Amino acid sequence: MLQKPRGTRDFLPDEMEARRAVEWRLREVARRWGYREVCTPEFEDLELFTMRSGEGIIGEMYVFEDKGGRKLALRPEITAAVIRMYVNEAKVAPKPLRWCYYADCFRYERPQKGRYRQFWQFGVELIGADTAAADAETILLASDMLNATGVTYELKVGHLSLMRNLVKDLEPVMQRKVRAHLDKKDFDGLNATLESLNRTDLAASLTALVSTRNLAEAFEIAGAIPEKERLEQTVESLDASGVKYELNFGIARGLDYYTGIVFEGFAQNLGAENQILGGGAYRLAQLFGGDDVASCGFAVGFDRVMVSLGETALNRKDTVVGLACMSEGRKRALAVGRAFRDAGIRTEMDLMERGLGAQLAHAAKSADFAVVIGKREAETGEVTLKNLHTGEQKTVGLDEAIAEVRAHGAR
Ligand code: HAM
Repeated sequence: MLQKPRGTRDFLPDEMEARRAVEWRLREVARRWGYREVCTPEFEDLELFTMRSGEGIIGEMYVFEDKGGRKLALRPEITAAVIRMYVNEAKVAPKPLRWCYYADCFRYERPQKGRYRQFWQFGVELIGADTAAADAETILLASDMLNATGVTYELKVGHLSLMRNLVKDLEPVMQRKVRAHLDKKDFDGLNATLESLNRTDLAASLTALVSTRNLAEAFEIAGAIPEKERLEQTVESLDASGVKYELNFGIARGLDYYTGIVFEGFAQNLGAENQILGGGAYRLAQLFGGDDVASCGFAVGFDRVMVSLGETALNRKDTVVGLACMSEGRKRALAVGRAFRDAGIRTEMDLMERGLGAQLAHAAKSADFAVVIGKREAETGEVTLKNLHTGEQKTVGLDEAIAEVRAHGAR
């Protein structure tokens, strides 16, 4: 028996309905904040992803050559593609641009719960606003989106300049290594790296920086950074809006295009792969041949949100009508089915040429109501409506039956 590729998933209807419901809640929040949907290709020139991150990232991607010998990659994320599109299509559009997307990404990772090779992100990119207000807006939007999904989470906000200021004398590769240790809270690894560099003097301040939750204290530890006032303003806006978050200057982010504010969301009930959102301020447009425009954005890890919501997301909302008929009632049943569907009600008719009893037994397993069209109903134009939860049954006019089903809540 053939199986799906490693790290991918199939979604059955119950799960798809749950996913779409959550996706639409995210869409609705994005709409309310003025973010309009964009779409980019599933694959891009490989260069788009290696330009900033280097060839090292190839190992984590699906890379292939097409028949014309072009080097392409399935997108591992959407931000670079959105900024490429901005440079290609919308450079002169009035700023800021507020864009959002719901799209699948591909990463060649070792699969485990919450980590897949094909996964979906709901993301936003705010392009062309280089202010504290822009930083605050994306964080508030991130929080609104996670709230809309119903997931329980913690939001952590940091800024890369503080840590960068402390390690600025190290070689860039070493800076990255130190930041990666801190991101993972790998203090043993950090100490070993600092020892190998003869820079154990940095250990105390780096550890203090990632431990503090206080902005003034963080500035004291890391020294003056040019973005001090902007960060203070952002924090002021967040506090004024009442959003729940925690300052954390240990956030380093995996992708290396970030330049300023960074933030991450964590679900409380997931294991190792508990990061459900990540984002921050970055500059990529110039690298792709555009102006040096500032951007800020984030992506919700949609699949991890669904894992975190678990069974609670699976409640079916649709009321279902099973339409049962005898052969004399079939024509009338087609018209009745149309009327129910026109009224927006999910209506399923027997296709198996089963007897009336078997049709009702099937409806009891799959529907909330049975609508029966026997010989008598076919003649009178009425329908017999049976509530399959209570067993209550009555013969009524079509409009009344539709009204009754509509008034019924979710199963
Ligand atoms: P990222 O942190 O690499 O950021 O990914 C965003 C989210 O996607 C993660 O927080 C995680 O929930 C989810 N995710 C990542 N890898 C996997 C995987 N293998 N399986 C399931 N979920 C995964 C970005 O991609 C940036 N483009 C976000 C951004 C937008 N920054 C600015 N704008």
